This record gives sequence, C-alpha cells and structure tokens, in this order.
Amino acid sequence: MPLLKYPILIFFFILGLNFKLQAQTKTKTNSKPSKSGLKSSIRRGKVVYMNVCLACHMADGNGVPTMNPPLIKTSYVLGDKTALIKIVLNGFSEDVEINGQKFSNNMTPHSDLTDIQIADVLTYVRKSFGNNASAIKPPEVKKVRPVKKI
Ligand code: HEC
Repeated sequence: MPLLKYPILIFFFILGLNFKLQAQTKTKTNSKPSKSGLKSSIRRGKVVYMNVCLACHMADGNGVPTMNPPLIKTSYVLGDKTALIKIVLNGFSEDVEINGQKFSNNMTPHSDLTDIQIADVLTYVRKSFGNNASAIKPPEVKKVRPVKKI
C-alpha cells in the first residue's frame, strides 16, 4: 500500500506549486500601479515606432546621415511638446540643421495615427535612445490635432 501513496502525494505537490505560481503572477501584475501606465505606453509606443518611424529614423534612433535626422537629444525631441506633436501630425519639410548636419528631406504626415498612438510613440522616443523627457498624453495630442472640417 505505501507505494500507492506516492502518486497521490506528487499530485497534490504539483497542484500546490501551480497555485503558488498563480499567486505570484497575480501580485506581480498588481504591483506599482502608478508606473504601469507609463510602462505600457512605452511598450505600445515601441510597436508604433517599429511599424511607422523605424524605416526612416532607424531602430536605434540614429537616422540616416544627410537623409533622415537622428532622434537622439535633438531640440525637437526634447523640446516643446506642441511643436513635436505637430511634426508627427503634419509632417516636416523645412531645411534644418540637427547636431551639425543639414537635412532637407520630407517627412510624411502621420495624422492617420490615433491620439493614443501618437502619444505612445512620442513617449517612447522621449524615453529611449538616451533621451529622458516627460511623457506625452493623448489629450495633449487631441488639443493640437486640427478639427476636421466637413
Ligand atoms: C519617410 C521617412 C520618415 C518617417 C516615416 C518618419 N520620419 Fe521623422 N523625419 C524625417 C525627415 C526627412 C525629417 C527631417 C525633415 C526636414 O529636413 O525638414 C524628420 C524629422 C523628424 C523630427 C524632427 C527632427 C529631429 O530629428 O528631431 C522628429 C521629432 C521626427 N521626425 C519624428 C518622427 C516620428 C516619431 C516618426 C514616426 C511616427 C517619424 N518621424 C516618421 C523622415 C521620416
């Protein structure tokens, strides 16, 4: 009879382990609720960046010399939020000098992105590539986006 006891013990041991694991993952996702908003915005913003901006500004934000400017510590990325949001919404086609290099290429407008997507991607850019500027929230994008005329 003692042999029969072991499978039953193992069964309860595994069951117990499973509960313990579940409890751990639950507490993990619930911890630090104040920071999770920023973290998930950055995570979503990275996806938008990969899909939309990476082709021109590259994965490391370094851009392409003489064609597409870098997004690393430029006055546009770190500076005025409204001006930065306008660049994404309306595109950008001025002759600019960024970090000692001249650029006169065209950046296409991205007004097809939602307020959340623009806030997320700009938050990602402002918190990545060595940048550390404040997050951008969807209502800030909404305020800048021109009202659609019918
Ligand atoms: C088609 C290529 C292209 C895409 C896609 C693109 N950009 Fe640009 N971007 C440019 C070019 C070119 C300029 C410089 C325009 C000029 O010379 O006037 C620029 C300029 C900028 C600037 C201001 C200059 C600087 O380097 O700080 C920012 C900020 C920026 N882009 C962010 C973004 C973000 C965020 C996205 C994705 C939502 C994006 N761009 C998508 C080509 C692109």
